[in-house]
Amino acid sequence: MKKRMKSIFGGLLAVLVVMQFFQIDKTNPEYNAANDFLNSAQPPAGVAETMKNACYDCHSYQTKYPWYTYVQPVGWWVKNHIEEGREHLNLSLWGGYSAKRKNHGLEEMQEMVEEGEMPLNSYTWGHPEARLTGDQRNALISFFKETRDKLGYSGGDDDDDSHGESEEHEEHEHE
Ligand code: HEC
Repeated sequence: MKKRMKSIFGGLLAVLVVMQFFQIDKTNPEYNAANDFLNSAQPPAGVAETMKNACYDCHSYQTKYPWYTYVQPVGWWVKNHIEEGREHLNLSLWGGYSAKRKNHGLEEMQEMVEEGEMPLNSYTWGHPEARLTGDQRNALISFFKETRDKLGYSGGDDDDDSHGESEEHEEHEHE
């Protein structure tokens, strides 16, 4: 029995070791800085800082990878969040989005922050600076609203859009 335990343990250890050879790609793709949300939407400094701390790791090409992303399978899991986050909303590409997509993005950002769905809980656990205070939340919400008013988009949001995910939103789980 003892011998068997030993070989199971050894097997698991070997799998873990092999996993470490499959590191995630941590290079940030290039993008046009003028299109970045902070440059193109120009939020006030406080909002910009909050978004940098709480959203940019998953929703931009300015991701900072913590040390534990060098440890698999944790890194794979984090990378998956980043890829999914960028797919839904990439703040580094903001300036290039259509008015419709911007309008939708602002609406969604407001909703996510209002409901406390974003940033993901699994993220704030390791990033205390991303835990939003009531004031930070309110500042973000007002800015999203204001920007949406300024945009003045009134084309509707229910049909197909370049976002390509509109039907799925409600079903998503925010882990
Ligand atoms: C740890 C990574 C992570 C962080 C940090 C994060 N998000 Fe997300 N976000 C995701 C993922 C993954 C999705 C897509 C899956 C989902 O909706 O849960 C997403 C989806 C979204 C969506 C699209 C929702 C939808 O239903 O289409 C918006 C808008 C959003 N996030 C806004 C924010 C804002 C604003 C912040 C900062 C306050 C933020 N996120 C921080 C990972 C993150």
